[in-house]
Amino acid sequence: MPKKTLYVAKIRNGTVIDHITAGHAMDVAKILGIAGRTNGGIVTIAMNVASKKLGKKDMVKIEGRELNPDEVDKIALLAPHASINIIRNYEVIEKKEVKLPRVLKGIIKCANPACISNSDEPVQPKFYVESEEPLSVKCHYCGYIMEKQDILKQF
Ligand code: CTP
Ligand code: ZN
Repeated sequence: MPKKTLYVAKIRNGTVIDHITAGHAMDVAKILGIAGRTNGGIVTIAMNVASKKLGKKDMVKIEGRELNPDEVDKIALLAPHASINIIRNYEVIEKKEVKLPRVLKGIIKCANPACISNSDEPVQPKFYVESEEPLSVKCHYCGYIMEKQDILKQF
C-alpha cells in the first residue's frame, strides 16, 4: 500500500539518518554540530514518526553533508538501530546500519575525574561496550561504568 503521507520532503544531496531511537533526534543533531545558529544547508528533523521496525522513530536529514566515522560511532551509542543513507541526486546511493564497535577509542571521555585518561598524560580514552541496550560502557583504565545519561552530557 502506498504511504499516505511523506512527513518530510526528500533531499537532493546529503545524508538521511533514519531509524533513530525515538527521543534522540536532538542529540543526534547536537553530535553533528547543528545547534540552530549554524549556517549551511537545509536540515530537517522529524520526531515520533511511525515505524514498522521500531514503533516510533526519529529522523535527521542534512543537505550537502556526509558524516565522519567518529560522528557515526557517537550516533550508534544513542541510536543502535539507526541507518545512514547517502543521497545523490535524490537517489539513495549507499545505505548502512550503524555498528557500535566493541571498543571505543577517543570517542567519549571517562566521567571519573581521577582516571588517568583525564590527567595531563597523553592517554587516549578507551572503553569497552558491555551492553548496547541499555547502553553500558566500561573504562579500560579505571573500570568506571558509564550509562547513556552520563554519555549524553558530553555531547
Ligand atoms: N530519503 C530522502 N531523500 C531522498 C531519498 C530518500 O529523504 N532523496 C529518505 C527516505 O524518506 C527514507 C530514507 O531516506 O527515510 C531511506 O530511503 P529509502 O531507502 O528509499 O527508504 P526505505 O526503503 O523505506 O528505507 P529502509 O528500508 O531503510 O527503511
Ligand atoms: Zn576511566
